[in-house]
Amino acid sequence: MGKKVLITGATSGIGRSLAYTLAEEGYELYIVGRSDEKLAELKADLESRYTQTCVCYRVDFSRSEEVRSFLAQKLQVDILIHCAGIGKVGDFKTISVEEEQEILQVNINASVLLLKSFAQRFVAQGHGTIIVVCSTAAFYPHPFMNTYASSKAFLHHYSLGLGEEVRRYSKQVKVIAVSPGPTRTSFFNPQTKTKMVQSQTETKFEMSAEQVGESIAKALYSNRSSVTIGRRNQLMTLFLKCLPLKLRIRLVGNYIAKGV
Ligand SMILES: NC(=O)c1ccc[n+]([C@@H]2O[C@H](COP(=O)([O-])OP(=O)(O)OC[C@H]3O[C@@H](n4cnc5c(N)ncnc54)[C@H](OP(=O)(O)O)[C@@H]3O)[C@@H](O)[C@H]2O)c1
Repeated sequence: MGKKVLITGATSGIGRSLAYTLAEEGYELYIVGRSDEKLAELKADLESRYTQTCVCYRVDFSRSEEVRSFLAQKLQVDILIHCAGIGKVGDFKTISVEEEQEILQVNINASVLLLKSFAQRFVAQGHGTIIVVCSTAAFYPHPFMNTYASSKAFLHHYSLGLGEEVRRYSKQVKVIAVSPGPTRTSFFNPQTKTKMVQSQTETKFEMSAEQVGESIAKALYSNRSSVTIGRRNQLMTLFLKCLPLKLRIRLVGNYIAKGV
């Protein structure tokens, strides 16, 4: 029997691509999304291509009570890949308080509930891998995606700290924070995307969801606690780190402001 992997945010983009990559590798899939229709469509397609069955869970991460009742089911898996996440482009005047609170709820509050619960389960069962999909946006402030980037900075820090805590209970449990850079998915709404990606040169910075999914699947075998996805993103991160923080924030802000 294949290993069991639970993927959140499996109905779209990077999570969906990971579902196909891992199904191809023989994993048994447990997929989480917030839409019954999307989950049913993905399950049907996966089961038509691969021999494993696929189990679906509808959970809206913006609703704590749904996260808690999902966790109460005490699902046992070998791997958790937490990919669900939301963000919004805009400044402090255009993004509403409600939108900011929803980003914090999904990317931070729900994530902490989920990661804490699976860390405890994995330590109790003596093995397990947690992959947390963060972002290169976690590495420094991103004006005009400020709440999103700040929430990913929290998630990145939290994942690294959690990894060190669980390591002291079991060397067979690991937590890996993976950070993709710009990726072609439906993460940004189409108007934002059109405004931001104005030239061919800029579209070249993006990776496909399939490339990112394959790199994250490889990260499962890594012993590192933090993996930046893609050579270009690794180089860009190194380059930006050499710049004074103020200049770095200005450059990033100039780029994202195009999407506002
Ligand atoms: N795209 C990028 O450029 C990029 C770069 C770095 C990091 N990331 C991170 O990668 C992860 C996946 O993003 P993506 O680019 O693949 O975006 P995406 O195509 O929009 O997929 C996001 C996934 O999260 C799910 N989701 C959103 N809100 C949810 C909620 N309230 N409850 C449960 N599930 C919810 C979505 O479900 P639905 O299908 O129902 O919408 C979808 O499955 C995110 O954590 C994002 O921050 C993305």
